[in-house]
This record gives sequence, C-alpha cells and structure tokens, in this order.
Amino acid sequence: MNKMQKRVGIGLLVLSLGGGLVLGVSASDREKNEGKPRADVAPVQNTLYSTECGACHFAYQPGLLPARSWEKLLTGLGEHFGENAEVSPATLTALREYLTGNAADRVDHGRSRKINASILDGEKPIRVTETGYFQKEHRELSPHMREKNSKIGSLSRCEACHTQAAQGSFHEHEVRMPGEGR
Ligand code: HEC
Ligand code: HEC
Repeated sequence: MNKMQKRVGIGLLVLSLGGGLVLGVSASDREKNEGKPRADVAPVQNTLYSTECGACHFAYQPGLLPARSWEKLLTGLGEHFGENAEVSPATLTALREYLTGNAADRVDHGRSRKINASILDGEKPIRVTETGYFQKEHRELSPHMREKNSKIGSLSRCEACHTQAAQGSFHEHEVRMPGEGR
C-alpha cells in the first residue's frame, strides 16, 4: 500500500463512519439543528470542487483561506505537497472562480473573518494549518499527543476530529478526538 492509497483508505473509513452517524441522526436532533446559527464557514456545494479537490483529502472550504492563498495554491498544482494534482485548463478556471469568489476575505462568515484577520497582508499561506488563527486554536494539541495517537496523524485532516467539518462547522463541542472521546 503506498501512502496515497492509505490516505484514501482512511478517508473512506472516515466517510463510512460519518455516513453511519448521519443516518443515526434522530428527528429531535434535526429539529435542534434548525435553530443553530449558520456554519462557521460556508459548506462546499460545488461538485466539481469536491470531486477534484476532495479526492485525496477533506475538501477544504474556500472560506478557510484568503483569495491570494488560493491563487498561489492553484498555480502550483503540478507540485502540490509532493503530489501531482494538475487539472485541465477549463477545470482550473472554474476552480479558481469558485475558490477565490468564496475565499475568507470575500465572505462574511465569522470563522473566515477570523482566519483572514490572522494572516499578515503580504503573506499567502497555502496551508490552513499554517494560519495564525488555526495555530492558536490548536495550540493545546501537542505533537507528542499526536504521535501517541496514530489515528490522528496530520492536523490537516480536519474531519478526523471535527465531526461536522463537512458542514462547515468546527465548534469545539463537536470535536471527538479519535480514540479519546471528547
Ligand atoms: C493527488 C492528491 C491530491 C489532490 C488531487 C489534491 N490535493 Fe491538496 N493535498 C494533498 C496532499 C498530499 C497534501 C498534504 C497533506 C498533509 O500534509 O497531511 C495536501 C494539502 C492541501 C492543503 C493544505 C492543508 C493544510 O492546511 O495543511 C490544501 C489547502 C489543499 N491540499 C488544497 C487542495 C485543492 C484546492 C485541490 C484541488 C485543486 C487539492 N488540494 C487537490 C494531495 C492532493
Ligand atoms: C487532532 C484533532 C483535530 C484536527 C485534525 C483538527 N482540529 Fe480543529 N480543533 C480540535 C480541538 C480539540 C479544538 C478545540 C481546541 C481548544 O479548545 O483548545 C479545535 C478547534 C478548532 C476551531 C475553533 C473551534 C471553536 O469552537 O472555537 C476551528 C475553527 C478548527 N478547530 C478548525 C479546524 C480545521 C479547519 C482543521 C483542518 C485544517 C482542524 N480544525 C483540524 C481538534 C482538531
């Protein structure tokens, strides 16, 4: 099994567990959710994006990085964190429009605004996990703790701990650490 197959395998496992949870939601839970404030970041509702950019990992919502970061990331897809993630020119144009148009500095979802505010003007981080806001919020998750718990692996795998990540919701009380409960 190479690294990528393993990643996809873990992804599928998470997906199937997630599916089970969704199916398990009771009517009263659904009613409770209706009164909920809107998501921290706008959820992904773009199929092209979730197919192309959700193939290897969680489909990070556009509102997790500012437009200039997405621009930079999209110009380097041939060398994307050690992987080739190139797409056709037409797909690239569509992805660029979606990502930059809904970026953290273009929308007014609360968490997007906070992430954006934590990045200096000249900076273009292409990792959510490198932003000041992310690092502040995850400061308590020490590398030691992560090493100990191999189920967590990379902090880039938002959905491994944030049970509502795909819905654009990252509230603290929805976190379930793999193997550790709350
Ligand atoms: C061929 C597999 C593959 C595809 C396709 C792919 N990625 Fe990635 N991506 C990766 C890998 C590998 C990493 C590094 C993950 C890690 O460090 O755990 C990564 C990391 C990222 C990160 C940084 C996450 C963080 O905060 O640490 C972002 C953002 C990202 N990808 C966006 C995209 C976008 C947008 C697309 C679609 C254009 C895309 N990816 C398509 C493999 C892929
Ligand atoms: C290893 C598990 C883990 C992973 C992976 C993880 N988080 Fe978190 N996250 C947490 C925990 C635990 C907290 C609460 C930290 C605290 O209160 O000290 C948190 C807090 C947050 C918060 C603030 C929540 C609040 O209610 O204030 C945001 C936003 C967030 N995470 C986003 C993300 C994103 C985006 C990713 C992926 C790029 C991610 N997290 C990956 C465990 C994780």
